[in-house]
Amino acid sequence: MDMILQAGNLEKTYKRGAEVVYALRGINLEINYGELVAVLGPSGSGKTTLLQIMGCLDRPSGGELIIDGSAVETLSGSALESLRRDRIGFIFQQFQLVSSLNVQENVLLPLLFSRRKPDYAYLDNVLQTVGMEHRRKHLPDQLSGGEMQRVAVARALINRPGLILADEPTGNLDSENSSRIFELLKKLNQQGVTIVFVTHNHELADMAGKRIMIRDGSIEAVHAG
Ligand SMILES: Nc1ncnc2c1ncn2[C@@H]1O[C@H](COP(=O)(O)OP(=O)(O)OP(=O)(O)O)[C@@H](O)[C@H]1O
Ligand SMILES: [Mg+2]
Repeated sequence: MDMILQAGNLEKTYKRGAEVVYALRGINLEINYGELVAVLGPSGSGKTTLLQIMGCLDRPSGGELIIDGSAVETLSGSALESLRRDRIGFIFQQFQLVSSLNVQENVLLPLLFSRRKPDYAYLDNVLQTVGMEHRRKHLPDQLSGGEMQRVAVARALINRPGLILADEPTGNLDSENSSRIFELLKKLNQQGVTIVFVTHNHELADMAGKRIMIRDGSIEAVHAG
């Protein structure tokens, strides 16, 4: 099996009062193990919606999604939750750190939900990977934006996911910190992690092996290489 994720005719509608918003209109895509994929498209085109559905943070209104060989629509709530927790790491544009928890506690948070014992050697490893081992007792408001995002990357890694979904991970960072986060994602990809990231930055997108262009809830084009 060489596909980590397969989407067939994925649809998502949001109801806003009497109005129906068609956020995704039949998305077909395949992502292989080990790929580095960029998702591009105008504001409101459906990129976040697509990532949230691929990450099982939200369910599609129609169509089929297969992750690691499991058809998501056939999974019970708890099976879906463990798939999301154990197999997928999420990185958000706004970092989404818990302000009352320090760096180390934020990174360990996903383990709390899966009721796993922290592997402190692996925690050290992950903090070193993102260059935050010297800040492990700092609270988020004692960190720079770039540091906060590095903590968020560490948190996404703590469950050793095979798939990382990153929604504009460098959208709130200056160019130096953007490159640093992107280098980190590339390094993880070279270690075998499949990565899908949303970006408006064409330079970063050009470094991906595959670029998916979205417009108005549909895939407009897929560029490889
Ligand atoms: N919870 C919601 N309820 C209603 N409509 C929504 C909801 N979330 C998103 N939408 C609508 O769905 C469409 C796609 O939104 P989405 O957030 O996926 O776009 P995006 O491509 O990520 O945009 P951006 O580049 O600005 O982040 C938009 O028209 C948006 O207004
Ligand atoms: Mg978005």
